[in-house]
Amino acid sequence: MQIHGRAYRSIWLAEDGWRVQVIDQTRLPHEFRIATLDSVQAAAQAIRDMWVRGAPLIGATAAYGLCLALRQDSGDASLAAAARLLLDTRPTAINLRWAVERLQRVVAPLPPAERAAAAYAEAARLCDEDVATNAAIGEHGLAVLRERWRELGGERPLRILTHCNAGWLATVDWGTALAPIYKAHDGGLPVMVWVDETRPRNQGAALTAWELGAHGVPHQVVADNAGGLLMQRGEVDLCIVGTDRTTRCGDVCNKIGTYLKALAARAHDVPFYVALPGSTIDWTLCAGADIPIEERSPREVTHIHGKNPQGRITEVQLTPDGSPARNPAFDVTPAALVSGLITERGVCPASEAGLRGLYPEAT
Ligand code: MRU
Repeated sequence: MQIHGRAYRSIWLAEDGWRVQVIDQTRLPHEFRIATLDSVQAAAQAIRDMWVRGAPLIGATAAYGLCLALRQDSGDASLAAAARLLLDTRPTAINLRWAVERLQRVVAPLPPAERAAAAYAEAARLCDEDVATNAAIGEHGLAVLRERWRELGGERPLRILTHCNAGWLATVDWGTALAPIYKAHDGGLPVMVWVDETRPRNQGAALTAWELGAHGVPHQVVADNAGGLLMQRGEVDLCIVGTDRTTRCGDVCNKIGTYLKALAARAHDVPFYVALPGSTIDWTLCAGADIPIEERSPREVTHIHGKNPQGRITEVQLTPDGSPARNPAFDVTPAALVSGLITERGVCPASEAGLRGLYPEAT
């Protein structure tokens, strides 16, 4: 991704070769601030406080968090404690567990003196793979967009609705749901993106709009509640979202509000696609109801952040003093409402047979 004329990934190593740098996403879109993580505690804080977010990037940050822990102390107890600390940061995104277990499998059999170097090599591999995976999701998703565009006559831009941020900021590069959109835009297929603001944290309004704008992709931010009307009026041609965890039976857990969009899409015959890497599939679960849903601070509902007229990022209160609030951060869209899953290996029905067809080796 190009920012201010420079190519960035969303996570990288500092010049010293061991500290980890990320973009502090809590400051976007108003300030581009790079945060440097020098301990597993800092990596855990970056995930918990959502300086980094998005399932694949959470996984990549956790992988580097383990590297930072092993650099300080490469013993078994340190490895176990670091894994526990990281796994406890956010419960829903399965990529976190996937990444931590992947690194543990690589380093645990090694003598402690070799672990840190091996962990850094594996974390770098994981990040490179994420980029390649998302580029492949982009290609498969592009075919879906192209087909829909032709089906609708191919005369006007394809109007795509997305929820939350499943762009390059949520991954190491490219994004999942936004990868096909970038490929379409770059390849000359005209698109216009409806960006759900995505209350309470506004990842759509703040992050997706910023990314799309930086890339020159036409878009309009809409209030979360606008999607139903837009679909009813035939102004949405296709929905595409990311996911934090998809069960082997195709139930899709994603940012709160996704389910309502899937319901509206079904009611109005709008195709509803989910883009995901294989690392987001939870093969241990079938029923989406068994996915743990993160409950975040009610303050994210009662308060909101923005830039004040003096240009400072500030927080204001929305609700009456003392009004209680509840903040479930994700919901589950049943497989029956999903038109297809777009993965790095191709597009499949949202079902166990569909996923097993693409990932026959999964256990
Ligand atoms: O709470 P967040 O911002 O981490 O939630 C992110 C999402 O819901 C994304 O859609 C999901 O992680 C897919 S990211 C490629």
